[in-house]
Amino acid sequence: MVGSLIATAFWAMLPAYVPNNVAVLAGGGRPIDGGREWRGARVLGNGKTWRGTAVGTAAGVGLALLLNGIVDPISATVGVDLPTFDLRAAVGLAFGAMCGDIGASFLKRRSGRERGAAFPGLDQLDFVIGALFLTFLVAPGWATGVFTRPVLVVVVVITPVLHVATNVVAYALGVKNEPW
Ligand code: CTP
Ligand code: MG
Repeated sequence: MVGSLIATAFWAMLPAYVPNNVAVLAGGGRPIDGGREWRGARVLGNGKTWRGTAVGTAAGVGLALLLNGIVDPISATVGVDLPTFDLRAAVGLAFGAMCGDIGASFLKRRSGRERGAAFPGLDQLDFVIGALFLTFLVAPGWATGVFTRPVLVVVVVITPVLHVATNVVAYALGVKNEPW
């Protein structure tokens, strides 16, 4: 029961987990805010780039399509009826995750935090909020079917743990500048 909730939550959120990590590898080039400031600080900062956002979103959508191709054998193996992603849900999860992260940078700059500064809580959940919000907006039928109340609870509990773990690994491997 709890196992199948965790499997469903993890599977359904995979297209939202991958974009930010891919953006770390793909980032660079022109920042989204074009270097502009607002009220004495950058609007978003150099850590939010067009390339990172585009490649991260594409990777999340691509992963969703890839998962659709293997959902049947994986469901059979795990013994859980895992969801197939419709295209709008895939875009909502991937692009929503990137938008949540971008929104968090906007808030960090407004609160005087420099690029790379930690914002505990927000750092771990910004992309979950963005991904769920956009997915419920663009694919409401799919979202309500997959993200039931218990699945949402599991998402909110496991995501920060996974996020901290992957960022610590990325930092240890030298691909990320800070371990958050
Ligand atoms: N990145 C990007 N575009 C995005 C998100 C991330 O190019 N939309 C890349 C940037 O190179 C960024 C790195 O991924 O430096 C790490 O992402 P993140 O930790 O979200 O950004 P920070 O540099 O820490 O900046 P901020 O303080 O605004 O979060
Ligand atoms: Mg950061």
